[in-house]
Amino acid sequence: MGDVGTAEAFRAARGFDSSPLYRHLLAVVANEPALVELASRTRPGQQPTFALFGAVHYLLLGGVTDPLAAYYPSVAGARARPVDADAGRAFTRFCLAHADRISAILATRLVQTNHVQRSLATRLGLALLREATAAPVCVVEVGCSAGLNLRADRYAYTVGGSTIGDPTSGVHIRVDVPDARLLPDLARLPVIADAVGVDLDPPDLADADDRAWLRALVWPENSHQAALLAAAMRVAADDPPRVLRGDVADIGAEAAAALPAGLPRLVVHTATRIHVPVDRRPAFDAAMAAFAADGPVLHLALEDDQRIAPSGRPGIGLTATDATGSRTIAVADGHLAWLEPLPELATPTTLG
Ligand SMILES: C[S@@+](CC[C@H](N)C(=O)[O-])C[C@H]1O[C@@H](n2cnc3c(N)ncnc32)[C@H](O)[C@@H]1O
Repeated sequence: MGDVGTAEAFRAARGFDSSPLYRHLLAVVANEPALVELASRTRPGQQPTFALFGAVHYLLLGGVTDPLAAYYPSVAGARARPVDADAGRAFTRFCLAHADRISAILATRLVQTNHVQRSLATRLGLALLREATAAPVCVVEVGCSAGLNLRADRYAYTVGGSTIGDPTSGVHIRVDVPDARLLPDLARLPVIADAVGVDLDPPDLADADDRAWLRALVWPENSHQAALLAAAMRVAADDPPRVLRGDVADIGAEAAAALPAGLPRLVVHTATRIHVPVDRRPAFDAAMAAFAADGPVLHLALEDDQRIAPSGRPGIGLTATDATGSRTIAVADGHLAWLEPLPELATPTTLG
């Protein structure tokens, strides 16, 4: 992405509602050519907003002392300074002082934010499949990062006032669903015959630096998400999810062929396609279709599909694709802090 595209990515960015600091800094970066140039060193296809903010956060959490840290609740705690006019100047000074280290992070790291809250998408897909079939199913998460959401069947959830899932789980996901009547029974899941993730470069949960990068990608104000991430990393450390390394466009067909033939598959991706370079997206989409070669598929995608929820708030569409085609079944916050079901969610899943 060149400097013009990078500046536009910061200017047009949406969805940073839960981070007042980043919302403020988006305009700071967009209007400062030196910062735009630094952010443009992000790897191809990766969103430079998340990458630059993640790199700076990584350095601050790693112990680099600087006045900028005072603005980060993740570092300064409850005494963090509210965003003010000096925050942009502090951020600019920090980036220029540490440009070499930031540049090295941008050149080597991917945006791999593993938002455990998004496990609800997988849980929802499993419940929809259970309504459609009594057969065991396979789960495939494309762009699964460390694979934390492949454990969606093991977490506790409070959704629309009801709590379901494993009450003993250290991971308790709370999603605001104003009207849960259209949801399937999230407590009723199929048997999972196989669960596998695919990722370009899966972070290694045994590696402290990889864990630190995942932590840095959580926004500074979102302490609840950081706690969920830490709890899910502990679950995964005890029983690591199976994750295949590679571009799904290259290894997807092989991964699909290795699944038990004939069994229904849930294929999920959340915040993944948005990080695929535009010229690679047709190959990414073809790989998704290839998962249907040896078994019927329900494909759920929570990507960059800007929609207005029934309540009027802006969000993104959760799309379901089955043997009958695609439909938007809900509008949600990008982090799945909230989800509003659409009437299409009640359409029975057709497995062909
Ligand atoms: C922003 S993270 C989202 C992770 C996870 N889906 C979640 O919602 O928590 C996007 C992930 O997709 C992976 N990714 C991007 N393009 C990919 C591709 N073509 N094939 C496989 N993985 C990909 C990245 O490596 C990264 O870990």
